[in-house]
Amino acid sequence: MSTLEKALEKSEQIAQTNTEKSVVKNRVKSGLGGTIPSTKRTVNIDWEELSTQGYLSLEQGNSGLAEEYRMIKRPLLYNAFGKAAEGIERSNLILVTSSVPEEGKTFTAINLAMSIANERDKNVLLIDADVAKPTLAKRLGVTASPGLIEYLEDDSLNFSDISLATDVANLQIIPAGKRHTFSTELLSSNRMVQFVDELSQCYSDRIVIFDSPPLLAATQAEVLAGLVGQIVLVIAAETTMQSTVQEAIKRLEERDVVLALLNKAKYGLTMDYYGYGQYGAEH
Ligand SMILES: Nc1ncnc2c1ncn2[C@@H]1O[C@H](COP(=O)(O)OP(=O)(O)OP(=O)(O)O)[C@@H](O)[C@H]1O
Ligand SMILES: [Mg+2]
Repeated sequence: MSTLEKALEKSEQIAQTNTEKSVVKNRVKSGLGGTIPSTKRTVNIDWEELSTQGYLSLEQGNSGLAEEYRMIKRPLLYNAFGKAAEGIERSNLILVTSSVPEEGKTFTAINLAMSIANERDKNVLLIDADVAKPTLAKRLGVTASPGLIEYLEDDSLNFSDISLATDVANLQIIPAGKRHTFSTELLSSNRMVQFVDELSQCYSDRIVIFDSPPLLAATQAEVLAGLVGQIVLVIAAETTMQSTVQEAIKRLEERDVVLALLNKAKYGLTMDYYGYGQYGAEH
């Protein structure tokens, strides 16, 4: 049985177990004093356009897609806030990546964020960390503004300078910002480490989702993978070669929690549409 098959099989067991557990963990708050800084700008998401492109919308509570994302987010939330979180560093930070381009990372990151934000008691921060090819803001119909790169480059910028509130009360976004020749170095910097530490400590009650570049096409993804507690590896079903996926998985060997998610399968939006799994940790 391949690593991926094992991952998928294990995920089914985890999903079953997780339905019974939902212990919310309180962490000691630090860094920014436990307060969530306010944002300076509120943007409206273009729901109509997203819905045309097949994305999850706020009203789709009972759709097949909404149900799929319910299943996908369950192990992630359990790992973030449940008992498993105790063994995972920065467990509330989730990176959405893939082996190669266009497997559906941004699609997954947005839908996952929407699905979690739909749970009224959960806050989500969606960050475009695909600094090489940022698309998140555009996909959401939001005008680009200073983002992660500017924050990393300029010590005088605060969280509130780059984060955007949205028309969904519990969803905030951070755009990627401008292109930068040394973006990999900026993502590896102490300021970035401090930033993710603050997100995991001051924002321990919220989920932070990073949309990432592909692992085999850009160096930034591997750097980002080392900064988060959980990784969703999006795999374009029936198009990405298994050897390519194995190569990507190799780059994630050191990481605690990796969930494989099969996207774009041809059977439509049914429960078989996505698979997801966890390997590398006995959480
Ligand atoms: N499950 C899906 N159903 C319908 N459309 C999808 C699905 N997954 C992805 N898409 C569409 O496929 C295209 C590529 O997806 P997306 O942009 O999310 O990929 P990506 O991995 O982020 O690409 P990149 O590597 O360029 O950042 C987009 O137009 C997206 O809307
Ligand atoms: Mg993308």
